[in-house]
Amino acid sequence: MKIFSSEITPYKHYINRRKFIKSSLAAGLVLGTSTTIQANHSSNQNIYANQVDENDSLNSFEEITTYNNFYEFGMGKTDPSENSSNFNPKPWSINLEGLINNPQVLDLENLLQKIAIEDRVYRLRCVEAWSMVIPWQGFPLSELIKIADPLSSAKFIQFVTVFRPDEMPGQKRRLLPWPYVEGLRMDEAMHPLTILSTGLYGHDLLNQSGAPLRLVVPWKYGFKSIKSISSIRFVDKQPEATWSMLAPSEYGFYSNVNNFVDHPRWSQGTERRIGEFKRRKTLMFNGYEEEVSHLYSGMDLRKYY
Ligand code: MTE
Repeated sequence: MKIFSSEITPYKHYINRRKFIKSSLAAGLVLGTSTTIQANHSSNQNIYANQVDENDSLNSFEEITTYNNFYEFGMGKTDPSENSSNFNPKPWSINLEGLINNPQVLDLENLLQKIAIEDRVYRLRCVEAWSMVIPWQGFPLSELIKIADPLSSAKFIQFVTVFRPDEMPGQKRRLLPWPYVEGLRMDEAMHPLTILSTGLYGHDLLNQSGAPLRLVVPWKYGFKSIKSISSIRFVDKQPEATWSMLAPSEYGFYSNVNNFVDHPRWSQGTERRIGEFKRRKTLMFNGYEEEVSHLYSGMDLRKYY
């Protein structure tokens, strides 16, 4: 893949920042820093800014953008980067619909002028037992939920990917039921770790990464992090989600990263970090146990996988 000179500066910036992340964590400090992507940065200290530790190194821009799952562009890992050049993420609108006081069609560019973009370095753990560490830019999903102003009957949110078979060649085939859909319980959606991402490494999301807007839920398997979102529906019942609809015995609605519950066909106890040789142990909730385990207190996580 060709890397443009505009991408080199942010990459160096983040390589240097990686050292900063490590030393600040060692000193017990976790600070939010500004990003190069938007003018309206958040300069607040943010305990959620860098949710990785000294054992995590950032994956490269190249790794993050050439090893992808995005079935709308094909099933292979390089298909999304190779087959997505005809996808046009600009302009973009998002439908907010369902059990809310403010149903509307939001213009993304307009929205981004009003919302502060933050840096979030998160691990992403795929259900296929590989993982990466990614420096995202985005904003908490809760900001958008506030704009929608849900009714008290809205208990879940369903996300829908755009349907454009002319631009997404995978959608011309029945690889999955289209459009791709995903869902979260309202408290998961409101959790401060849950973000909508617009960029990574200080660069707008490339098409293969889910341009122009994708979900990132770092304590859940990667397939919950739905890409190129066109609708957000507020509903009263647990909504359908693509993979748990297709194979309910393999993929549950919750799909929290859980090293104690194996996939029927492979172990979830370890993972291959892209770029590394030795396998790593998978951490409960992908290492975000302290922040999110309270969401599931009293639930049998073997049953609600
Ligand atoms: N979103 C859509 N619309 N279509 C997809 O096929 N794949 C999911 C998720 N989001 C997918 C999707 C899966 S299986 C994973 S692991 C992550 O995207 C991968 O994200 P990445 O390619 O940015 O690493």
